[in-house]
Amino acid sequence: MCGIIGYLGQKEAYPVLLAGLERLEYRGYDSAGICTAHHGTLHLHKKKGRVENLKSITLPGTIGIAHTRWSTHGSPADKNAHPFLDQSKQFSIVHNGIIENYLELKEELRKEGVAFTSDTDSEVIVHLLAKYYHGNLQEAVLNTVKRLMGAYAFCVLKSGNQEIIAARNGSPLVVGLNGGENFIASDVSALIEHTRRVIYVDDFRLVKVTRQGVELSDFQGRPLPPSIKEVNWNIEQAQKQGYKHFMLKEIFEQPQVVEDSLRLNLSLRKDFSRLLIVACGTASYAGLVGKYLIEKIAKIPVAVEIASEFRYKEPLFSRDDLILAISQSGETADTLAAVRLARQQGAKTLGMINVVDSTIAREVDDIIYTRAGLEIGVASTKAFIAQLVTLYKIAYALAGQEFSGEGLVEKVQQTLSLNSQLKDLAKKYFAYQNFLYIGRNINYPLALEGALKLKEISYIHAEAYPAGELKHGPLALVSEETPTLAICPQDSVYEKTFSNIQEVKARNGKVIAVATQGDERIKGISDDVIYLPSVKEVFYPLLAAIPLQLFAYHIADVKGCDIDRPRNLAKAVTVE
Ligand code: G6P
Repeated sequence: MCGIIGYLGQKEAYPVLLAGLERLEYRGYDSAGICTAHHGTLHLHKKKGRVENLKSITLPGTIGIAHTRWSTHGSPADKNAHPFLDQSKQFSIVHNGIIENYLELKEELRKEGVAFTSDTDSEVIVHLLAKYYHGNLQEAVLNTVKRLMGAYAFCVLKSGNQEIIAARNGSPLVVGLNGGENFIASDVSALIEHTRRVIYVDDFRLVKVTRQGVELSDFQGRPLPPSIKEVNWNIEQAQKQGYKHFMLKEIFEQPQVVEDSLRLNLSLRKDFSRLLIVACGTASYAGLVGKYLIEKIAKIPVAVEIASEFRYKEPLFSRDDLILAISQSGETADTLAAVRLARQQGAKTLGMINVVDSTIAREVDDIIYTRAGLEIGVASTKAFIAQLVTLYKIAYALAGQEFSGEGLVEKVQQTLSLNSQLKDLAKKYFAYQNFLYIGRNINYPLALEGALKLKEISYIHAEAYPAGELKHGPLALVSEETPTLAICPQDSVYEKTFSNIQEVKARNGKVIAVATQGDERIKGISDDVIYLPSVKEVFYPLLAAIPLQLFAYHIADVKGCDIDRPRNLAKAVTVE
């Protein structure tokens, strides 16, 4: 969840690390810190809050490590900010992950005279290093990892040494190579400004990065050959390009994403009897759309499980099931654990992943890469759209039917012209404290996704229900104070959803309807109508997603929320 980065080269390290941290900030923004090494001394600056708090000063040196934090153990205070130093101030570390046996280790180190300065689990790493250091840093790191339980990627800097050593077990780590300057970071976005040549580090690997290059070994110290890859992202994707927020830019990139996703060439073997989708958050809602789609079009049973539930519930699945893990980042800890569990029990796994060579992508038996490109906004938008189009492709491919794209790119483009209407609606509705979202059938998951977007970025409470369930409880919540956003296109369940809207209106509830262009009837009963272009029933989720994203975006903007970095959240959730 946290972001880490290390640099050594010819440039001053502090500004390079600062810029890298800004790109990693979506992984956490509770505190940030940088440690550089210069003339045999470590220099440290760390602060509670955003990376920008580090900008007031600079530190000397052309080598350093840095961290941006999403708190797990210990509050978001200065003292819990990384990097941590040992007592002799010779060693410094930054860590992403959770050290599960830290209390036991802390006790042991305390008895040996170590005074801890933070409440974190991470601090034990630096004191263990100091304890095991007898002249060789690599050896000290190898002895340290032997003592650690849990998940980690950490970087180590030692005063006087022209090297950064990093280790990985369960949290992402990537090396960037650029001639005389090299990098190590949690993900590619931190390096892309400098280089596209990277090495993805596997679990149980130790990396020694110097200005000359990289040495890779396993946890027994046996050297391994590094495999260098070329990243196909570019720096423009990591910039806002005139948009106020990454989220808005990413919403507007969706026609291109649909076009790119439609070009995907799928070759699927239909040698399974059931598809079991595991995912978290937005990806799980895409999975739910997939369930309706694949069952309807390909007539294959599909189950969707939230990955964190799947892994702990003694799930029932057989070797005839295909486990489909959907994940933008490919790093979500629960989804990864679900994949590992399925594989251990002999099931076949398929990944639908956006980030190339991410951990899940590397561990599944088969992989389909979604074509969203780099997504930076914490609230997922274009990755969701890419997942939907990919699921359409899967559904039609499994059914052996042709899927041409049905003019979807133009319709998505057309739907984006709703932006100004949604901006106005946001001004009208931003002050409400609670919302209901309803939809039926294939649009029910869209109600879930729309409500999630509103919660995530505008901090307004929103609950989503299958429209038919209103009468089993949530109708009691309906009043003038709780507007309902109803997804009600002209599909096979139109009349049913229409009746549910009437039930809301009969109880003085305000209704914003997402409907089909030309539907005058719905205008008569709703307070506001958002019209979507007319499409075949199964494609409405793809279009409906856009006004729901824009509604949440503009409400959050009117409220002055930090849209790309919503409080308490992070984009890649690499802890349980
Ligand atoms: C976090 C993000 C969500 C995302 C979810 C799953 O909660 O904030 O936007 O949907 O993780 O992430 P994944 O990378 O597995 O799709």
